Amino acid sequence: MHIRSEIIGWGHYLPKKVVTNDDLAKIVDTNDEWISTRTGIKTRHLVEEELTSDLAYGAAKMAIEKAGISVDEIDSIVVATVTPDNTTPSLAAKVANKLNAKSGTVTYDISAACSGFVYGLTQADNMIRLGQIKTALVIGSESLSKIVDWTDRNTCVLFGDGAGAVVIRAKEGEGTSADTGILATKLYADAAHYESLKTTGGVASTKTAGFIFMDGKEVFKFAVNSLSQAAETVMQMGGISSKDVDWLIPHQANIRIISNVGEKLELPTEKVIVAVDHHGNTSAASIPLALSENIESGKIKKGDIIVMTAMGAGFTWGGALIRF
Ligand code: COA
Repeated sequence: MHIRSEIIGWGHYLPKKVVTNDDLAKIVDTNDEWISTRTGIKTRHLVEEELTSDLAYGAAKMAIEKAGISVDEIDSIVVATVTPDNTTPSLAAKVANKLNAKSGTVTYDISAACSGFVYGLTQADNMIRLGQIKTALVIGSESLSKIVDWTDRNTCVLFGDGAGAVVIRAKEGEGTSADTGILATKLYADAAHYESLKTTGGVASTKTAGFIFMDGKEVFKFAVNSLSQAAETVMQMGGISSKDVDWLIPHQANIRIISNVGEKLELPTEKVIVAVDHHGNTSAASIPLALSENIESGKIKKGDIIVMTAMGAGFTWGGALIRF
């Protein structure tokens, strides 16, 4: 018997307010041409009154509805975020509270920046495969607009707000790549790059959240290599070659990074999911958001092979191979 974690529900939630590049050109010295050609971003959604928990709750509710289960069936809720409502308790606890989750539901947050969803999914998958839990709700949710310096054109044009979620559940498989569910995961980190992508503050250092700072060029180069490495590794682990891959869902930070990774993996552009144009970089939310949108649009179908790959502050990176 081989236990797999199968994706049985998916959801996403975006705040209503859409901000265009032209809107940003009214705030900082930038223009649509620069943002479009350097990043591929055209619009992003930004929160107004809503909190990160409201976005997470919206995505979670949809994922639970799609799964057709009751909240009581969820054993663990994990939220990947760097923009929680409160420093403590976790955002997962807030979501559990809003969902009216039963006493005993395990709740915790993952802080791995843009890799957070892949980290959270890996952990939940491992707990399922060990038999510790049967059903998990894994969410990526961010209000990055709260930690962006709106006077810094280098960063403020890049990010957006939103949330995505999946419900995963234990299912018996054969132990082959024909199984549905998570087939392989791999996580990495290299803390030598701590200073290259970070916030300028934090609870202990400044008693503030700080603003996002990054060495764009260093992050760019590292992202292309690490995203490709993680994708290649999980494909190898699962015995899948790039011609068998139906969809690559890379972290949505920059269209040039996404295209470079697709080329390195020798995947045709039509197999590479792009959402950065209308979401911007939503950090931990970017992969589950893109996944849910593309399942709902009918693009991603049952049985398809999906490779997820993410990279973020830390540096952290990792991948997941899934048969949907
Ligand atoms: N509008 C107009 N000009 C801008 C600008 C903006 N929003 N932001 C920066 N510029 C300027 C810079 O000041 C610089 O001007 P200078 O040459 O006079 O100094 C010029 O544009 C070029 O900047 P550069 O840093 O060389 O651009 P780039 O091609 O490296 O692209 C990023 C910048 C940030 C888009 C790119 O480095 C990137 O995507 N990095 C990775 C970001 C990322 O993925 N982060 C999250 C990872 S999880």
